[in-house]
Amino acid sequence: MGGAKNSVLKLMAAALLAEGTSVLTNCPEILDVPLMADVLRGLGAEVEIDGETARITTPAELNHRADFDAVRQFRASVCVLGPLVARCRRAVVALPGGDAIGSRPLDMHQTGLRALGAHSAIEHGCVVAEADSLRGAEITLDFPSVGATENILMAAVLADGLTVISNVAREPEIVDLAAMLTEMGADISGAGTDTLMVRGVERLHPTTHRVIGDRIVAATWGYAAVMTRGDISVTGVDPATLGVVLGKLQDAGATVTARENGFRIVSRERPHAVNVATLPFPGFPTDLQPMAIGMACVAEGLSMITENVFEARFRFVEEMVRLGADARTDGHHAVVRGVEQLSSAPVWSSDIRAGVGLVLAGLCADGTTEVHDVYHIDRGYPNFVDNVNALGGEVERVS
Ligand code: UD1
Repeated sequence: MGGAKNSVLKLMAAALLAEGTSVLTNCPEILDVPLMADVLRGLGAEVEIDGETARITTPAELNHRADFDAVRQFRASVCVLGPLVARCRRAVVALPGGDAIGSRPLDMHQTGLRALGAHSAIEHGCVVAEADSLRGAEITLDFPSVGATENILMAAVLADGLTVISNVAREPEIVDLAAMLTEMGADISGAGTDTLMVRGVERLHPTTHRVIGDRIVAATWGYAAVMTRGDISVTGVDPATLGVVLGKLQDAGATVTARENGFRIVSRERPHAVNVATLPFPGFPTDLQPMAIGMACVAEGLSMITENVFEARFRFVEEMVRLGADARTDGHHAVVRGVEQLSSAPVWSSDIRAGVGLVLAGLCADGTTEVHDVYHIDRGYPNFVDNVNALGGEVERVS
């Protein structure tokens, strides 16, 4: 299992917090990594990517502006906001365009930075934050937002005094970020709980850090095994980070064996329907909701899938219907009655996870399914086509 997309991009941004060369190992070979490298270069850093290793050299003076051209292709680029405010006391980061999974406002990012003493506004299509100095504060998030937690944490590590952030995201990728920041000299406690305590330090130093394995990609292969009645072993990911997900696959009838650094999933029969509700970690991840829908489409019985994190994440369900799924959505619920056989059709992917969910459904359909706009998949899944073929699927990339 390669490194986690949702970790590596933030770790690359964290490297901006210390002058000198930080090294990240186990970087996934996905499109978002070179895109993030370009964002960092635009800010004045030097970035060298060699296979699974990224070397980021941060200068004493950073450019505080991330322009639209650099950030427009992916939303995660907004995670340079916290480091820029911390290092330069000024940040201007262009707002990336709308996302196909729903609106993604930055109000909590801004509220947190304001509490630390920054002025923040949206101006001319950019989020702007400025502070004469940053000082520790008590901050309670309205919702455990992953991105807001990360930006506030990365600003607080160089603020003056103690910051206590409550109702934070507890995702393993936050724990990974806190681990790297601690290796850089930050004083952080509570990572993985709902409260982070950060005592600001004057400066951080570069480090070498290994990115954690991608639990979303790992679990995707688990879904692939259950949907196609296969036998799969995944290594390089902590199964404890997938507790709820592996439990759902077990409820669907698969034999799930957790191992020290991975898991095995064996499925011989048609999966049973299971209900799923997405929630912040340790709940069921919204990023696996399309796989849960995919499994529901071929399972025996009626599944109810509830999306609680991104309001528009059901748009791809109509593509599943094109493949013969018996599915309907109402607000943030999807009700799916599994069918014995999906039927191939041309379908369009709207984001990384929906694209993969459609490919998995295509593996269960008779005939040849054409999935369009698959560039989304390249953003988050390394060697996707080769991996599916190595596992016995038949996928061909057509340019
Ligand atoms: C990250 C992940 C994404 C995952 C998501 C939830 C990365 C690159 N992306 O996205 O794959 O699906 O976490 O696990 O790590 N919100 C606000 N105001 C804010 C911030 C967020 O209303 O200031 C809302 C969002 O619109 C959304 C919810 O909070 O409805 C969760 O968003 P958030 O946890 O921030 O997700 P991201 O960090 O964008």
